[in-house]
Amino acid sequence: MAYTIDTLGETETNIELLKVLVENSFDSILITDATTEGEVIYANNAFKKLTGYEPSEVIGKTPRILQGVGTDEKVIDRLTAALKSGTEFEGKAINYKKDGTPFIMFWRVLPIKVDNKIEAWVAIQRESSFI
Ligand SMILES: Cc1cc2nc3c(=O)[nH]c(=O)nc-3n(C[C@H](O)[C@H](O)[C@H](O)COP(=O)(O)O)c2cc1C
Repeated sequence: MAYTIDTLGETETNIELLKVLVENSFDSILITDATTEGEVIYANNAFKKLTGYEPSEVIGKTPRILQGVGTDEKVIDRLTAALKSGTEFEGKAINYKKDGTPFIMFWRVLPIKVDNKIEAWVAIQRESSFI
């Protein structure tokens, strides 16, 4: 069977495939609920490798814990506007690992829509070598 973006996830095999992809992705994947606060409901193994936080430490918190004095507020304002309007965001900003080490986060945030209603937000994140 061929996979198209419309059939991906329809069968149990497809769901298993999606799980394997998310759990083993080299990019960090973070999912938040749809509330304006955006509480983390899932973090993959690469998130732990990137930030040093165990998924269990971030579930129920917001990704704001990654921010600090060096984080560009203009980038975060742009993200907040995207969250309010239900649109995608892509940007780079200084974030901080659990041990306080600063790094450049390059990330994309996308709404997960079902019947035109936002059910969750997903972020795909990686470290960038330049801002
Ligand atoms: C799915 C998702 C992923 C996010 N990932 C990051 C991130 O990696 N780094 C970051 O600085 N902010 C991230 N944020 C932004 C913060 O969670 C928060 O929305 C932002 O700081 C604005 O809220 P505030 O004005 O209350 O701080 C993410 C938000 C969402 C919804």
